Amino acid sequence: MQSITDTLKAKVELALLKLISEDELPDQLVVPSQNPKFADYQCNVAMGLARALKKAPRQIAEDLVANLDVSDICESVEIAGPGFINFKLKEDFLKEVLNGMAVDSRLGLEKTANPEKILVDFSSPNLAKEMHVGHLRSTIIGDSIARFLEFEGHEVLRMNHVGDWGTQFGMLIQYIREEMPDALNNPENFKIASLEEFYRASKKKFDESEEFANASRKAVVDLQAGEEKTLAVWKVFCEASMQHCHEIYELMDINIEDRGESAYNDLLPVVVDDLKKAGHAVQTQGAWGVFLEGYKNEDDEPLPTIVQKSDGGYIYATTDLAAIKYRMLEQKVDRAIYVTDARQKGHFEQVFKISELMEWSKPGDLQHIGFGMMLGKDGKPFKTRDGGTIKLKDLLVEAEERAYKLAKELSPDFTEEEFKAIGKTAGHGGVKYSDLSHSIGTDYKFDWDKMLATDGNTAIYLLMTYARTRGLSRKAGVDVNDMLGKAKLILDDPQEQKLAKKIASLLDIWPSVTRELTPNLLLSYLFEIAKDFSSFWNACPILKPEITQETKESRMLLAALVGRVIEWGLSMIGIKVLDKV
Ligand code: ARG
Repeated sequence: MQSITDTLKAKVELALLKLISEDELPDQLVVPSQNPKFADYQCNVAMGLARALKKAPRQIAEDLVANLDVSDICESVEIAGPGFINFKLKEDFLKEVLNGMAVDSRLGLEKTANPEKILVDFSSPNLAKEMHVGHLRSTIIGDSIARFLEFEGHEVLRMNHVGDWGTQFGMLIQYIREEMPDALNNPENFKIASLEEFYRASKKKFDESEEFANASRKAVVDLQAGEEKTLAVWKVFCEASMQHCHEIYELMDINIEDRGESAYNDLLPVVVDDLKKAGHAVQTQGAWGVFLEGYKNEDDEPLPTIVQKSDGGYIYATTDLAAIKYRMLEQKVDRAIYVTDARQKGHFEQVFKISELMEWSKPGDLQHIGFGMMLGKDGKPFKTRDGGTIKLKDLLVEAEERAYKLAKELSPDFTEEEFKAIGKTAGHGGVKYSDLSHSIGTDYKFDWDKMLATDGNTAIYLLMTYARTRGLSRKAGVDVNDMLGKAKLILDDPQEQKLAKKIASLLDIWPSVTRELTPNLLLSYLFEIAKDFSSFWNACPILKPEITQETKESRMLLAALVGRVIEWGLSMIGIKVLDKV
């Protein structure tokens, strides 16, 4: 469905075309008004055109209005101040929009007209260690972006580009060679009790013994050369590691396909060869690198992006180049989006540029979304009390426990099963919500109390608002959803009008959320709708005996719409609603 701003914009555009030419049309013509007392929507294009048209803005506004026909959707059009054009909507038009949303399973949000094959590279932890909070943001943000694009109608490949081929494995393999030679001869019987302990023990040896460190480096070479026994133990590590990761994905309701760095091993020499043949990779101090325009070191000397080290080894960038080539040419994706921490910005800029030089991709096909750090309440990196990294599993367990306890305090008469469901949903969902309610690029402070605040921009507040609409159905003895497409809207009370406009503005907000990939904008909108619903709830009784049947049904319809918007909105960040919270 067309949003209200777009409907108005189209009409303003028609009128403007009588005054200016098509290529002079500004992009943003109509915005929701900041002051609902005077108007619902506002157009301030007249001020911007004053110079070009050599006329006073107010005169331009008058000319525009003289050519404007909005009588079918607006009650009034007024010129205010230096040349603002203020629109007041016709109530019938607003009702029409809401009715359209009510009967559509997608709330009036249309699928894209240009479906693409889009790969989202997210989560992607380095294996051989347990996942820690550092992996949280990539997992949550990537999953949500994938959900947005899927809802839009794109074909989405959710890829886990795990680090399963790096130097950390040399250390683990060497440790096995020295401490557990049996395992090497019998990889079928080799099991890892604790990845974390194993990692710690071998890291200790690595740091203490030069000899061990050198042997570890050699072990990576054996691994990458495909030495059989080495490969067999490597596999055991990867499987144990992947199993651990998927336990976490299951807890978080994340769907992702594994294709780790090792999958590109055979392509690495090919890619370096491609680069050499094209004349882009040149020898530099024994290594092979690409000199990209604009990359300089501190002494202002050209700085190469290395693709093969002087010992013949390949690096992170080589693997990413191989992956890009594979994704663009073999998997034939239209676009790929990479979600990692912001510090990898430079890395992706370089490999994307090299890919463009090779014509594997065009500018814009590859996009890096860099996120800020998750900090503790004190603004320092989020750590355990003794300064260690927090395991992701522990964080999720604690979130669940805290939400469970809160549920018991809030509604002591619920059943044990209901407490548990709230613990899971508001706990794990709370972690997702608090992460995505901040803008992706900036650091944010994680705070348990804020995450579980029942009156803030939080998962629990939204879940409670949704549950209110379900509670209303129980009390009324009819499902509010039965009113969708059936009840007639009455918007007499100012709170009803305000809520109705907020519901309709979903059609305005969603396109920019998917275009810019900004989950925080969606969540701010959900928070606003929940607040407006709360004001409506306090001002507009529904089940009181003096309320007429028509008003009751209309208010139930508004509640149903709010419930559906929240249910859909939370599903876009991977949270399932509950009937009772
Ligand atoms: N494994 C990397 C890390 O932990 C992230 C990989 C991101 N994806 C990629 N294609 N480079 O930092």
